[in-house]
Order: sequence, then structure tokens, then C-alpha cells
Amino acid sequence: MNVVSRAFFSLFLVFASSASLLGQPSAGSFQTDPNWWKNAVLYEIYPRSFQDSNGDGIGDLNGITSRLDYLQTLGVNAIWLSPIYPSPQVDFGYDISDYTAIDPQYGTMADFDRLVAQAHKRNIGVIMDLVLNHTSDKHPWFKESAGSRTNPKADWYVWRDAKMVNGHREPPNNWLSLFGHSAWQWDPVRQQYYYHRFYIQQPDLNWNNPAVRKAMYDVERFWIQRGVAGFRLDAITSLFEDPTFSNEDYVLGPDGKPEINAYGDKEVETNKTDNLPEVNNVLRELRHVADQTQGRKVILIGETYLESIADLRKMYGQHNDELDLPMDMQIGFINRFDVNLFRKRINEAETGIGGNMPLFVFDNHDNPRWDRYIGTGHKDDVGRVIAAVLFASRDTALMYYGDEIGMVTTPPTRKEDVRDPIGITGWPKEKGRDGERTPMQWNDGPNAGFSPPGVTTWLPIPPSYKQINVTAEEHEPSSMLHWYQQIIALKKQDPALRDGAETMVNTGDQHVLSWLRRATNGEDAIVACNLTDQPQTISFDLSAQGIRNTRLTTLMKTPGATDPTSLRSIQLGPYGVYIGRIQ
Ligand code: NOJ
Repeated sequence: MNVVSRAFFSLFLVFASSASLLGQPSAGSFQTDPNWWKNAVLYEIYPRSFQDSNGDGIGDLNGITSRLDYLQTLGVNAIWLSPIYPSPQVDFGYDISDYTAIDPQYGTMADFDRLVAQAHKRNIGVIMDLVLNHTSDKHPWFKESAGSRTNPKADWYVWRDAKMVNGHREPPNNWLSLFGHSAWQWDPVRQQYYYHRFYIQQPDLNWNNPAVRKAMYDVERFWIQRGVAGFRLDAITSLFEDPTFSNEDYVLGPDGKPEINAYGDKEVETNKTDNLPEVNNVLRELRHVADQTQGRKVILIGETYLESIADLRKMYGQHNDELDLPMDMQIGFINRFDVNLFRKRINEAETGIGGNMPLFVFDNHDNPRWDRYIGTGHKDDVGRVIAAVLFASRDTALMYYGDEIGMVTTPPTRKEDVRDPIGITGWPKEKGRDGERTPMQWNDGPNAGFSPPGVTTWLPIPPSYKQINVTAEEHEPSSMLHWYQQIIALKKQDPALRDGAETMVNTGDQHVLSWLRRATNGEDAIVACNLTDQPQTISFDLSAQGIRNTRLTTLMKTPGATDPTSLRSIQLGPYGVYIGRIQ
């Protein structure tokens, strides 16, 4: 998937302690405060790539536990682990063969319990990745279902008869797998096709079957009882298929002919397989289960690549009883610094979701990292701008491991090195997702401190580790890591930046994105981000907002900028950021 099509798929601390920055309380405990997740910082860990504790070249749970102090210093409220369940690893864990166990390559259930307990000591919640749309084809449920048309699980997956065309067997319709080619796979035993939205080895469950729902709600209960803080619901918009199973329309290019995707298929729409309204019923049922926790707030996050704010609004539920945090992919995945589009969409997130909490995200394990925004040069400056939009907005912020040190996308250069199957099917147009899944760069020693010396890591260590690594950046006050630590501290502890209402200002500016954060105690803050590679001078008149003071005190600014004293004149370097208190 290139950046655009992937976008569809679907942070030393100057203020080092977790005590208050300005006498304000920090985020509440996720075990006692039902609002712990609002305005929080969530950190996605790709467990294979975070820390290898046993020298097999693959990250593991004990490795994550050993890095909890680092995450606490960064200011993380919760970690989301991409799947750690037993799996054949065709899709690196998103093909689950047992939902209530731990894959031995990541550790044991005792390791998991220890991780949760150690995270809790640091007031960090653990969020599980719940893959509901499909299982592995090696899951006992699927094996049983595929065994005959009459077994007890015969109707647990989406089975259809072949369409016979001129005596030849064909798939029931033209639906495509997101990972290339037909979404239907012939099963010689059942003499039927099964539907798979993703890999062939990931058959879709039949969510119309109450037994499937009950089995998955039991899985949800299992992990809640083990103390998890929430779930990230994988591919949640794909649970249902249109019962007519009729063909999709082709996606037409500018020449009126069907577009050809990276895998050589004629691209089709996904109106009959994505975002069907039945999903909302399931979300309410999942919410109901998550709420049975005797006062502990377990959050539901959705993987929601949706194109409009109205669609995103629906995912919170008509009565706000569905997802707590559907991911807003409409801002972070604009993928270019279009100031007007950023302004429009951030404003929509502030005004268009019924007063719910927006979840902003720029990076994850499915898309090229933040460096996709770099046009020419200014690498670190671009990273700081992105961090400012992510953490200085009124949102819950979801970041991806390595963002905080400025890790960059490092795709394979040879087909034979590719590990992600889509990179093999789609080479060279689609190089897969290995580039954003490379091992965490802890130091400039052997294997970047990810694996012991001499071990072959599951993906190569990017050459950038010599400069881009945690240890080097901890010692460099102007590093990306320090920028992240400071802005996260502001987000969590400054009255305006924590939960102050947000208003876009200077809305006619074609270069600088600026917004006001209004604290209830009157300590307002202004944020300005230069989205261009040219220096800019800006001026604010906030009388329309009832603000007559013009004096400024700098809270944060990009390296090299001078301290402005007045709202009337602020100078920003290329991709410069300024955050100040209005007095
Ligand atoms: C979305 C996940 O983020 C991605 O990595 C995975 O391949 C698909 N869902 C299928 O589970």
C-alpha cells in the first residue's frame, strides 16, 4: 500500500517528575478515575520490535516490562500492544489461533501478568488489540467450521457457494481482499468459498451468528479480568457484509476505466463490506461488557479509517454508548502540510463529534512513519510540528513507538528481504509494512540495544540508529526526545493545554496553523505552527475572542527561535513552532 491507499486502511524532561507542573493535577489513575483516558497519551508498541529480552531477535513481553521506566518518564498513560496471542504470524499476530493465551515467542501468561502489574505500579494501563473480524485459518473454530457443512461451527464463518459460469467455478462475487486479489478462497472439503477481507489465512467470522458474538464477548471478559485498561478493536468497521453478496462497482480512474491496484487487480468499492450499520449494535454490546468492571473504566478504541466527520461521530454511538475513542485518521493522514485542510479537520474534530473526545493519530504499524511529511530537508523541524499538532490539540493523543526519537521509515530495498506478505505480492509498487516496524533504536551499540550483540534481528536495524537513538537523545537538550517529553508534560499538566477549549485563529493564514486553548482559570495559551519551509512572521488580534492582553510568556518553542514578548509579532523559522501563555 502506498501512503494514500494505506491511509484508508485503514513523545529530559525539564519537568521530570510526574508531580504538577503548575500546581495542576496530572492525569488521574486509570484504576480509580473514570476519565483517565481523556486528554491522555497512548503509546502503541509493536511487541516484535520494542525490546528483545531473550536474544531470539524478536521483541517480547519481558522486554517491554524492562522499558516501563522509560515510558513513565516520557509521560505515557497507557500502552497498546499489537497482538500477542498465539498465531501462525502470517500477519504478525493479526491472525489469531487462540484468543486467551500468549504466543510463546512473546512470553508466558505469567510474563503478561507481571507486565500488567509493573505497568500499574507506574500508573500505565495496558490496552489489548482485539481482532474480532477474523481469526487465523489455524484457529480450532475455523478448522471445525471447514470440516463439513453440518458441524456445530459450520455457520461461524462467511461461507458461500461458487457461482457457476459456463460450467466453471467462480467466486460468489467480485469483492477484493485489502491485501490483494479475490476476497474468496475455495475450500475443497466444504466445496464452498470462504470470505477473507485480509489474507487468505484470515477467514472472516460471521457476526450474524449469536454464538460468535458470545465467544468474543467471553474473550473480552477474560482480558478485563486480567486487569487490562482497554481494547483497540482491529478492523472494526469490517465486521459485516451486505447480505445480498452482490458485486461492488469498479473504482474508475480519470479515463473512465477501472483503476488497477498495486496487486494488479481491478479496484472495487467497499460499500458492501465496510462500515455497515450493524457494526454499531456490536459496539453497544462490547461497551456493555466493558462497563461490567465495578467502577474501573475500560476503554474501547476503534481502528476507524472513515472519510467524514459524520461517519466518525456515529462510532461514538447515538447515545454515546459505543466507542470511547474511534481513531480520527482524517487529520494525521492528510499526509501533506495543507494548512487549510488541517484547520478544517481539526475544527471538525472540535465541533463535529457531539462533545466527545477526539483521538488524533499520525503513525501506526500499517503506514509509513511521520517522515512521509518531509518534502525537502527540515527533518526534525517537521517532526516537531507533527508533535505540536498531536499533543497541543484538545485530544487524546496516540503515538507510535520510536516517534519520540524521530525514527524514520526504513523499507526493504530487495524483494527477498521483505517479511510482510503484501510486500511480496505487491513488489515493487507495494513494499509492505516492514519499513515502519523496524526494531526500536535504544542506543548506538550492537543491534541498537534492541537485541544482544551477535543476534540476527527479525527485521534489520536501520542504519540511522547511530544518530537516532534514545541514549544519544537523552544527552542532547535540543533532541526530538526532549521535545516530546516537554510537550507531553505540558499536555498533561498545563491548564490550557490539558483540556482547554480549542479555537482556530488567524483562519485566513495560508502558511501558519494557529489555535487558542482557553483554560477555565483564564490562563489561555496560543499555539502556532509554521507548515512551510520559509520563515514566517505572524500577529494575533484576539479581541473577537474577548482577549485584550497581548503579553506572552513562552512555554515551548523550536530551537533557534527568539522569545516574542507580544502577540503582535511572532517570528517562526521554517516549520517553526511557538506555544505561549497569554498574559
Ligand atoms: C489492521 C491492522 O492494523 C493490520 O496490521 C492488519 O493487517 C489488519 N487490520 C488485519 O487484521
